[in-house]
Amino acid sequence: LSGMLDVPEVQIECSGTASLIVALTTFKRGSARRQVVIPAYTCPLVALAVLHCGLEPVLCDLRAGHFDLDPAHLASVCSEQTLAIIATHLGGRVAELHTVLAVARHTGAHVIEDAAQALGATWQGRAVGMIGDAGFYSLAVGKGLSLYEGGVLLSRHAQMRQQFRETADQIIPHSFVREARRTLELLGYSVFYRPPLLALVYGWPLRRALRKGRLIEAVGDDFDRSIPLHRVGRWRKQIGQHALQRLSAFQLALRQQALRRIERLVAIPGLTLMHDTVDGQGVWPFLMVLMPTQATRDAALDRLWSTGLGVSRLYIHALGDYPYLATQLKHAQTPNARDFAARMLTFTNSVWLDETGFDQICRTLEQVLAGA
Ligand SMILES: Cc1ncc(COP(=O)(O)O)c(C=O)c1O
Repeated sequence: LSGMLDVPEVQIECSGTASLIVALTTFKRGSARRQVVIPAYTCPLVALAVLHCGLEPVLCDLRAGHFDLDPAHLASVCSEQTLAIIATHLGGRVAELHTVLAVARHTGAHVIEDAAQALGATWQGRAVGMIGDAGFYSLAVGKGLSLYEGGVLLSRHAQMRQQFRETADQIIPHSFVREARRTLELLGYSVFYRPPLLALVYGWPLRRALRKGRLIEAVGDDFDRSIPLHRVGRWRKQIGQHALQRLSAFQLALRQQALRRIERLVAIPGLTLMHDTVDGQGVWPFLMVLMPTQATRDAALDRLWSTGLGVSRLYIHALGDYPYLATQLKHAQTPNARDFAARMLTFTNSVWLDETGFDQICRTLEQVLAGA
C-alpha cells in the first residue's frame, strides 16, 4: 500500500476514525490549541472522533451547492485556537485544497485530509492524504479495499509518521475479543457479499428502517460515543494485502463504468453531478448528484430507495442537525451544508447494477424532474 501511495510507510488502524484519533491525539500533545475545524456535512464519526480526543469540533459551512469548505466561512472560523482543519474528499471526489492549505498556513493549523472514501484518488498527481500534514483512508465495508473495518493513517512527514506510531503504541490496545469479532465479521462478509444474499442482509433492515421512518438508521449513521480502538491482527492485514492486488483493476472498471453512466446523468435537465476539479482525479465508489430541490430529491427517493437499485443518501443531516450531536456541538449557521444534505442523492456504481437497472433509475429521475 505504501508503494502505491508513494510514501515510505503507512499505519494500519482498526478504522478510519481510529486513524483520525491517532493523528489528533498526536497534534494535541504538541500544542495548546484545542479546536478542530470540520465540514458541517460529513460523516458524524468525524465529529465524534474530535470529541473523543477532548477537542472542540468547529463547524465550517460548505461552498453553495458543493461539498468543499466555504473559503470565507473557513477563514472566519479559523484562529490561533485552531489545531487542525479537516478537508474531506467526499465520496471519492477530490476536494479543492489550495484554499485549505493557504488558510492553514496563515493560522498555523495542521491540515488533515479525510480520504475515508477516496483510496486511489490523486491531487496534482499525488495520492490524496499526502498533500496535507496527515491523511487517512477507511477500509470499512463498501470502500473497495476492506478489512471489514480498518483504516490507513499516512503522512508525508517522516517525523510525524514516527510520532503517530508512538501515539498508537500508547493509546491503541491489543484486544483479542474485538479482533476475533472483526475476523468473524470479515468471514461473514465474504460469504454474504454476492447480490442475492446482500439483498437479504442489507435490503431487509433498510426497508424496515424506511418503513419506520428511521432515516439515520437506514443509512447507518446511528453512532454512539464509544469508538472501538484496538490493533488490527496479522491475518486481517494479510487479507487486505491480498485484496490490494486486485484494487487497481477494480477501480479502473469502476471508473470506466462511472464515466459512461455520467454521460447519461448529466443529460438529465436539473441534475448536478459532483465531479472533480482540474487538480483532482477521483475514484468512483458511487455517484453523487444534487437535485434542484428537496421535494424532487425526496420524490426520487420515494420511488427508488427501497428498490434495491442502490439509490440512497450519504449522511442524512448536516452535523448540527443530528439529535445525538446537537448538544455536543456549538451552534453554527451552516445553511449550505443543510441545503446539500437536503438535495443530494447517491447512486451505487457497483458493477452488479446492470444497464437495465441504471436505465430504470434514469427514467425515474427524468419523470420526477418533469413533474410526472
Ligand atoms: C468522510 C468519512 N470520514 C470518516 C469516516 C470514518 O471511517 P471509518 O468508518 O473507517 O471509521 C467515514 C466513514 O465512512 C467517512 O465517510
